[in-house]
Amino acid sequence: MGGIELKALPVSFATHVVGAIAAVMVLVWSIHFRGGLVWESENKNLIFNLHPVLLLIGLIIIGGEAIISYKSLPLKKKEKKLIHLVLHGIALILAIFGVYMAFKFHNESNIANLYSLHSWIGIGVVVLYAIQWTYGFVVFFYPGGTPLIRKESLPWHILFGLFLYILAVGTATLGFLEKLTFLENSGIAKYGSEAFLVNFTAIATILFGTLVVLTALSQGPGEDEYSYTAI
Ligand code: HEM
Repeated sequence: MGGIELKALPVSFATHVVGAIAAVMVLVWSIHFRGGLVWESENKNLIFNLHPVLLLIGLIIIGGEAIISYKSLPLKKKEKKLIHLVLHGIALILAIFGVYMAFKFHNESNIANLYSLHSWIGIGVVVLYAIQWTYGFVVFFYPGGTPLIRKESLPWHILFGLFLYILAVGTATLGFLEKLTFLENSGIAKYGSEAFLVNFTAIATILFGTLVVLTALSQGPGEDEYSYTAI
């Protein structure tokens, strides 16, 4: 992809920093304010906590790092392709676990599944992400499509990938809104420190997503020396 007249490396650095901040924020929220990360508990609310952590750190942050790996790493294209597909694979697996935790929490608390807009779009995002990953693997990695199929697929892969990523960031934002609304309705202070932390985590998520897209559209490092393999 040609890209806008902006060097990707400094933008990618800002992206890593904001990603690290967002990861710390969601961990502080779920561990310090919400009681910690557990798989099994009598207190079913704790089971939910892994959901935002796995989705934010997995799908959004590791998935975002996967997207920008072509622009943020001074490596050969073949190596970057492997890093891209492995990071997206990790992001997808963590996302599936994260969604499973929300279902587990609902089922063990006798709460209905899939009743909200957040959950509907969320399921759509994870299913489309799995399809996008599988198509990318088969066409660009193994067994690999013909040169014509690769060439014609690449712009769609990029467009659809960015679209899906932006949708994932929107879904996470909806999730923060929904959970904070539940918490406020059950008594936490509307202007308390937890409410501020959740809203600022959502803002950090949006900022990270913006920087990921900006990095993806910028000029990668050493494209001339390193882009010698056909993608
Ligand atoms: C892109 C990331 C995310 C995806 C794909 C996603 C997906 C989902 C899905 C599919 C469900 C339905 C589970 C069920 O019906 O049993 C769900 C539930 C839920 N999620 Fe997320 N989620 C994401 C991020 C977040 C984040 C960051 C939060 C913040 C706390 C959050 C909060 C919630 C809440 C409160 C529920 C339970 C209520 C409901 O079903 O809407 N989600 N999520």
